[in-house]
Order: sequence, then C-alpha cells, then structure tokens
Amino acid sequence: MSARLPIIVVGGGIAGLVTAIAAAPTPVLLLQRSPQSASRLAQGGIAAAVAANDSAQAHAHDTAVAGSFHNDAAIVDLLTRGAASAIHWLETLGVVFDRDADGNLQLAREGGHGQSRIVHAGGDATGARVMDALLAEARRSGHVTRWSSVEVDGLMLRGDHVCGVCLTREDGSREALHGRAVVIATGGIGGLFAQTSNPAEADGSGLALALTVAATMRDLEFVQFHPTALALPGRHSLPLVTEALRGAGARLLDSHGVPLMARVHPMEDLAPRDVVARRVWQAGRQGGAWLDARGIGSDFQRRFPTVFEMCMSHGIDPRQQPIPVTAAAHFHMGGIAVDADGCTSMPGLYAVGEVACNGVHGANRLASNSLLEGIVFGRRLGMRLRSLPDIIPGSGNFRLVRRGPALTTARLTQLRELLMAAMGPVRRRAVLREASQECLALAKEGWQGGVACALIEAALRRTHNLGAHHWEDAEMPGQGASLRQFA
Ligand code: SIN
Repeated sequence: MSARLPIIVVGGGIAGLVTAIAAAPTPVLLLQRSPQSASRLAQGGIAAAVAANDSAQAHAHDTAVAGSFHNDAAIVDLLTRGAASAIHWLETLGVVFDRDADGNLQLAREGGHGQSRIVHAGGDATGARVMDALLAEARRSGHVTRWSSVEVDGLMLRGDHVCGVCLTREDGSREALHGRAVVIATGGIGGLFAQTSNPAEADGSGLALALTVAATMRDLEFVQFHPTALALPGRHSLPLVTEALRGAGARLLDSHGVPLMARVHPMEDLAPRDVVARRVWQAGRQGGAWLDARGIGSDFQRRFPTVFEMCMSHGIDPRQQPIPVTAAAHFHMGGIAVDADGCTSMPGLYAVGEVACNGVHGANRLASNSLLEGIVFGRRLGMRLRSLPDIIPGSGNFRLVRRGPALTTARLTQLRELLMAAMGPVRRRAVLREASQECLALAKEGWQGGVACALIEAALRRTHNLGAHHWEDAEMPGQGASLRQFA
C-alpha cells in the first residue's frame, strides 16, 4: 500500500470488495475477520430486468410489493435501473453468466418476481463465482491491500468525525489506524440466531461498532428468514436450499405430503419470502416441512450442483426424496441508516451492503436483490470516496471508542436461542418483553447483547405487522394475517 492515507473498508464480502475496487486509484485497506462471507455462499443469483419483455419499473414494482411498500422508491429505482450495467460490469471483470444455446442470458424465477429475471453463474454457485472475480480484480488493481484475521473492535474519532479504527490481531496485538474514511461492510446478523443460513461470523459486529458511536439506525426489526435451509437439528449455520428450486417447480410439503403453500398466497410456493417463511415456521412446529424437488429429475446435478452435493453429503438424494427444510435467519433489511451514497449520520463513517439500510428492501427483501445491492451501491460509494482528500478528517483530539468484550460461547448460545424465539418469523409481545430484560443483562457482558437489545427495542416499537415483522398475538391467533388475507 502507498504511504498515502487509505480508505479503510471493514468487511470483505461483495459490498466491501466492490466499494474497494470502485475507489481506485485511492488506496484502500480492506480489513476482514476471515475469508468466509455470506456473499460467497449465495446460491441465488442477481436480479436484473434484461429480458426484452421486462423493465426496471417491473423489477421495482416487485421489489416494493415484497417490501410491503416500506421501501424508499428513489433508492429502489437506483437499484433496478442499475442492474443491467452491474451485470455488464461483472462480465468485464470475467464473470461468466449462464447462457442458453442461443447465447442469451438464462433467466430463472424466484419468489416474489413477476417473471424470470435472475441471472446465475455456475448454476447455484453465483456468489462464489462473483467473489472469485472480484478478488482477482482487487489483486490486479494494485490499490487494494487486504488484511485477514483481524478484528476491528473500535472506531477512532477526531471531534465528531470518524477518522480510523482500532483492531486486534489473532495473536492479541492491537493497532490503531488512521483513514481518510471508514466504510463498514460487515454483512448481516444471522449468526446471532440459533439457526441461520449465514456463516457464524455474520454476527452484527459492524452494527455494534456503529452503535458505539451512536450512529443512526433504521428498520432494525426487519429480519428475513429463508424458508428453505436444510433442516439439520442442532446445527447453527445451515446450508441453503436455493429458492431457485421452487422457481424450477419444486413444492413445499407438510408432514402429510400436503402442499404447504396451496391457498395461502396466489403465488403459492413463489410468494414473497416472509409469507413462505412464516408458513414453513408454522409447519416446523407441526411435524416439519419438506421441499419436493423430485420433478427436476436427472437435470438436478447440472442445474443445482451446490445443493445436490450438499444434500448427497447428508445422505439425501434430492432426485429421489423430498428435502427436509426449516426457516433460518437469512438477511437483515435494517441496519445503519445511510443515504444513496452510503453516508451515515456520522461524518467520516460510511456503510454499504447488508449492514447498511438505505431503504431499498423495505420490510422484506425480494429474492436475488442483495448481491445486486452490494454491486450497485458499492460502486456508487467507491466512486464517491475517490474524491476524498488525503487528510485525516475532523479537528481536535483523537479518541478511541471501543466496542467492548464479546460474550462467552455459553452466553452467545443463550443469546442465539433467545433471539430465535423472540425475533423469529412470528413474534409475541410477552416473549419479546421478557427477551428484552435478558438481553439487557447480556449487554453488560458482551457487545452482541447490545446489538440484540437494539433489535428487540425496534421490534417492540413497531406496533403493527409489516413484512418480516409479524406479531402473532395481535393479528394472527393461530394463523398469519398475511396468510389469511390471501386465502
Ligand atoms: C436463494 O438462493 O434462495 C437465496 C437468494 C437470496 O437470498 O436472494
């Protein structure tokens, strides 16, 4: 890295990497805990209105319907209008998207989309293919330096400007670093729940950093559950069984083999994710849920190689038998409040990707809009940061604000169970209030407790059902209001 003051990016998933690449030629120091990221695991693809009979407006409409119209329409517009150019940009970086025999992009369908508009690379390996290309580009570019196995556990302030970070290495050594800006791109919070499709490292570490400096948060109560994680009782981080399977005709069944989504929603198995997740959650308490993908037949392995290998490695042949599935924490719609350029309420501090909330997803994210979000808004932010001067921002004395200690493993397990019961697809006020008390106690012991408190407080403030935030005791004794409304 050059001696010039870098932009510090915390987090090495798609949003952090794209921001870093787009900031060229300004030097970037990218700090990450581990090479694992939720982006790499993404099986769904990238939603883009590239078909002749599709439009960015139609994609925006579906995004808003899935988000219960809680979305920021101008930001949705930026996302959906930016999709075709995002795909083109990735192609210039070497991503090879799946094409049909005539050379046209192959477009798949997922929940909530009015038509087929999801592009994939390597079938269900899109996240991995995109991450490989971005990492290669970051290495080639020369302006990005990556440090792994570092824990960013505090922010440096000068006056009210964020001007650096402090970090701890694996060997326990610590360092404080100045930057011309700090970008938080640490991903989601699934790791704070007992069952998640995320890696365990997606534990809200970046949210905790922003909370320590009292940056404004937005929509923290909206947590998306994926309806079809592979049911592996006792396991925390569960492999995903991609929604694209339902787009290819697979159907959800209850323990009697009855289709779960029939008469629940007009789009049945392809209903928005919050609706399907609630149904699967409910079925999970009544004997379980299964995804019957047998109809895909002998083509399964070619079209869905990741799911195929994962199922086979757990003794399930998805061509012959339904796959046991469960709802698992998957995506956080809320996060650090940002504008379209990733600016937070704190000067010098930026956020992008899942940890940020610019209002694009509303109360429930539309399938395959998250990699797209990382690319579109990462590029915007990186280009904005290019023009920052080579100086430490702010004036006055420097001070370090640390996130504090982490919970012990036993306490973290307790917190995960607590959040799963209280902040799951279906919520009850009494359970949340009790969880809130327990979390206050946990917050004294570790920063994850503080994040959980912020989530629970936000949920308690939202009195009505909206998207992924669903009170069972208010409007759905026994059955979801949104389940009923489509019956
Ligand atoms: C999936 O493949 O089902 C996940 C896609 C997404 O979360 O957008």
